[in-house]
Amino acid sequence: MGQDVTILGLESSCDDTAAAVIRAPAGERPEILSSLVAGQAELHAAFGGVVPEIAARAHAEKLDLVVEQALDQAGVALRDCDAIAVTAGPGLIGGVLSGVMCAKGLAAGSGVPLIGVNHLAGHALTPRLTDDLGFPYLMLLVSGGHCQFLIVRGPDDFTRLGGTIDDAPGEAFDKTAKLLALPQPGGPSVEAEAAQGDAARFAFPRPLLDRPGCDLSFSGLKTAVLRERDKAMEREGGLRQADRADLCAGFQAAVADVLAEKSRRALAEYLAVAPAAPAFAVAGGVAANKALRARLEQVAAQHGARFVAPPLALCTDNAAMIAWAGAELFRTGRRDGMELSARPRWPLDRTRPALLGSGKKGAKA
Ligand code: KG4
Ligand code: ZN
Repeated sequence: MGQDVTILGLESSCDDTAAAVIRAPAGERPEILSSLVAGQAELHAAFGGVVPEIAARAHAEKLDLVVEQALDQAGVALRDCDAIAVTAGPGLIGGVLSGVMCAKGLAAGSGVPLIGVNHLAGHALTPRLTDDLGFPYLMLLVSGGHCQFLIVRGPDDFTRLGGTIDDAPGEAFDKTAKLLALPQPGGPSVEAEAAQGDAARFAFPRPLLDRPGCDLSFSGLKTAVLRERDKAMEREGGLRQADRADLCAGFQAAVADVLAEKSRRALAEYLAVAPAAPAFAVAGGVAANKALRARLEQVAAQHGARFVAPPLALCTDNAAMIAWAGAELFRTGRRDGMELSARPRWPLDRTRPALLGSGKKGAKA
């Protein structure tokens, strides 16, 4: 398992300012010594989405503080870290720049080496931090900002099998909640409504199922919800509780069907690689959805793959995942210098073009 490493991680690519320290002893399970996440939800609440300039300024103001707290809580001095790992993209450029500049300052002042980490690699490598998964495994990232299937072959070796060509599923949940006047974030409120509803009442589309491959699309689904909502309101002069529940149930069933079928296809492609211990991992806020998670678990079981879903705090944006990705890269000999640049777009799979969608939370890849 390589050498003993202690890594400070920094994350600021979207609306969470985060710092963490992890220790990964050789041959033993890694340990999260501290992991702090300072959210910015209240700063953006009035705008219906993340405002990049506000996010960047808040990161710049908070980063020093969360780094100090993370080191304090871990009981580790900066000079005792083996590297400073920082998210260098993809994401909202102002936030990414704030993190990279902060990490460069810390590296210049302490002499500790710098490692630029791809935010998506942080998510994708988390199942190794939490569950010690061996390469290669199949990964589905599903959040408010991301949606893609990856074969994770190594710390810097990913094959993207497909991804969303427009919205991420979390965005679709959030927009559906907005259309139905349910509280944000939309995922949990739509899930709660859906539990009371009839999923068969509205015939929502299953986008891109008619096309081969693992690409996904969610923006049409939200338009379909809007159309049915308007029809129901016109019929009854307002939106009844039962209509709202049925719309949520129908929407959630469509998302679940699409993700389950695309997961089946991704698993078939992954299993063709002949992994020694097949595993299917999910990460991202949407993976918190119980109905969805149950469907994906079932698909994994049908394909003889182990199903892994890291605890929610490590599935959503955090800096422990960046520190861990930094540890994995450190062990492969990766070090970055002061020329490290912030990248708004940074596809994990260099053989494939960046995904098209840019989303309310920054670039998809
Ligand atoms: O991973 P995350 O915390 O942040 C990023 O997007 O980076 O994911 C947040 C997203 C939101 O869009 C939220 O509505 C969605 O995850 N979400 C859910 C559920 N809980 C959170 N979506 C569906 N069902 C849920 N229970
Ligand atoms: Zn993320």
